[in-house]
Amino acid sequence: MVAVAEHLKGRNFTAVRDWSPEDLKTLLALAAELKALQRSREPHLLLPGRALGMIFQKPSTRTRVSFEVGMSQLGGTALHLSASDLQLGRGETLKDTAMVLSRYLDAIVIRTFAQADVEELARHSRVPVINGLTDASHPCQALADLMTIRERLGRLSGVRVAYLGDGNNVCASLMLAGAKFGMRFVAATPMAYRPEPATVKLAMRVAVQSGGTVELTDDARAAVRGSDVLYTDVWTSMGQEDERERRLRDLRGFGIDEELVAEAGPQAIVLHCLPAHYGEEITEAVLHGARSAVWDQAENRLHAQKALLALVVR
Ligand code: CP
Ligand code: NVA
Repeated sequence: MVAVAEHLKGRNFTAVRDWSPEDLKTLLALAAELKALQRSREPHLLLPGRALGMIFQKPSTRTRVSFEVGMSQLGGTALHLSASDLQLGRGETLKDTAMVLSRYLDAIVIRTFAQADVEELARHSRVPVINGLTDASHPCQALADLMTIRERLGRLSGVRVAYLGDGNNVCASLMLAGAKFGMRFVAATPMAYRPEPATVKLAMRVAVQSGGTVELTDDARAAVRGSDVLYTDVWTSMGQEDERERRLRDLRGFGIDEELVAEAGPQAIVLHCLPAHYGEEITEAVLHGARSAVWDQAENRLHAQKALLALVVR
């Protein structure tokens, strides 16, 4: 049976910020082990009889299915809790919801709008709370991103990542995760779509300690030259649908097409957290092309989150 470290039991995973590089390394090592076990169909029932509740206030394909399947592969069960079906949707507080759900569940995943709501749930929960995406961050995605980059390139330190498009939740978590591992991260966005200044400042501070770098630019071409990873995400995130037309106009020129990939050099891989919008932030040819690692990246959500659950659930 695979050995699981005990020191992270009970920990929340509400933001990349709160996990040290050592904690994240422990998680990535376990994720690789669990992936190998799953590939060879060897049982690894690390969480028998445990229950995970997943509160969704926004839609999801990958997060929902990977957590649900992951929990079942670990010997536990997962419940999909649509916020509109919970009393939360009728005004029950997050505090009371957390206190009650902690009596039934062994961990809670929440996908919502405000990061503060995840923190509030975590404050009142007796079981670990995992951030399944907020407007500000997507830490579970960053775990799969790190895992995929390491699998493909054999290292994290010194890897040059060019993130293109909207400096959103996915960008923020990847930037900080990259900074913890000494990556050279550049976000190429229009001025008005730069990642949130407080996160940039934090990532820059963290990068100083790890030997990494964090840069911002509005020159997409310059950013991709010599990059090992080209990363993008949708231009219109969940909850921003009213801004779609403006965003399409403002972000034109920051999409990844074959010409831009060629600019990066032969070593570069392409990542996208998905879902993708062909012809906006990425072309269909690139997403399904030889340089794309997005399907491995999507699969790695499963392995990385299983490692997370195995580490934090008691
Ligand atoms: N990347 C990601 O979180 O996908 P879902 O919205 O489908 O969960
Ligand atoms: N930035 C996107 C990510 C989707 C997984 C959103 O928030 O909608």
